[in-house]
Amino acid sequence: MKILITGGAGFIGSNFIYFERANHPQDKLVCVDKLTYAGDLETLEPVLSDKNFRFVRADIADRAAMEALFAEERPDAVVNFAAESHVDRSIETPAVFMETNAMGTQVLLDACRKFGVGRFHQVSTDEVYGDLPLDRPDLFFTEKTPLHASSPYSASKAAADLLCGAYARTYGLPVTISRCSNNYGPYQFPEKLIPLMIANALADKPLPVYGEGLNVRDWLYVEDHCAAIDLILRKGEAGTVYNVGGHNERRNIDIVRIILAELGKPESLIRHVADRKGHDRRYAIDPAFIHEKLGWLPATKFEDGIRKTIRWYLDNRTWWENILSGEYKGCYDRLFGQR
Ligand code: NAD
Ligand code: DAU
Repeated sequence: MKILITGGAGFIGSNFIYFERANHPQDKLVCVDKLTYAGDLETLEPVLSDKNFRFVRADIADRAAMEALFAEERPDAVVNFAAESHVDRSIETPAVFMETNAMGTQVLLDACRKFGVGRFHQVSTDEVYGDLPLDRPDLFFTEKTPLHASSPYSASKAAADLLCGAYARTYGLPVTISRCSNNYGPYQFPEKLIPLMIANALADKPLPVYGEGLNVRDWLYVEDHCAAIDLILRKGEAGTVYNVGGHNERRNIDIVRIILAELGKPESLIRHVADRKGHDRRYAIDPAFIHEKLGWLPATKFEDGIRKTIRWYLDNRTWWENILSGEYKGCYDRLFGQR
């Protein structure tokens, strides 16, 4: 099988490439990524010279570039990770979120129609469902929960999901969608909660907790998300939405305390700062459907996953220190300048 993977130089996309390499080494992978501030080619360096791997720098919203790529590669399947993914940035600069997340997805859907691609998988998020109250732990997002996005980011992801559904129904395009909860693990950009807190704690810098830190997120180790996507791609039913999550709800303040304790740093580093605008209170996925239909269950317990993640950031300081210093921006020229 030849799989076109968009956004593969980012956090989850790169983990997915490594998952596919390990589990389906015979498959050909083509990664297309615009290399925005969030994309780092250094992350993919170990596979760049692999004969079953090709990297292409392009924008998924560039119709001509996508049509040329699809015409040349004729992929069997497309997995769309490419997105602007940070809620705080979407509050500051919403337009690019619609351009990439919604319009970019439409360009890919059109290309899939034109070239008869056998499966389009959209990597979506639990944030399309909005949020849940903190005092109703009995409530969960199911695949039937109505879309009710809060931020420009989640609205743009919901727009993409609606387009996917429309292309499936109107044109019979074989589309699947996964809506996953918060991921953590190696290669996550140090603007998101867990890597940001690790990086700041290691530098003895304040850890900015929004509001009281009582908002709840449902954390899943990234490899478990990759395994779910792989299963949906190979065994899932076209036209179906799958929620992905591991019933691992934590308050932000508790996550921060765990990181400080693991690193042997004092809680006096915690700084309560102004809350995020429109801050979603609680996310909680009901994963019963994917378990029942595809047998998926998360393999990594949070206690193990967070330790592995902290260990990874300790062992790979150059990766994230280069990002923080802006050094990684020269990586594309370094790795591809001569090709
Ligand atoms: P990320 O920000 O780490 O990576 C995004 C990647 O997409 C980067 O490599 C970036 O260069 C690339 N990209 C951005 N705009 C592009 C464009 N116009 N054309 C081509 N490439 C472009 O994001 P992530 O956390 O890895 O998230 C990947 C996907 O998973 C996103 O669609 C996100 O909505 C979804 N998701 C993320 C989480 C999470 O917790 N991180 C949870 C559920 C779903
Ligand atoms: O639920 C899935 C979503 O999870 C994905 O769709 C998004 O792409 C991904 O970024 C993530 O969104 P969140 O907004 O939940 O993640 P973030 O790491 O930005 O924040 C997690 C929580 O921590 C949230 O309640 C805000 C809080 N926070 C975050 C940062 C960056 C802080 O308190 N301080 C911070 O500095």
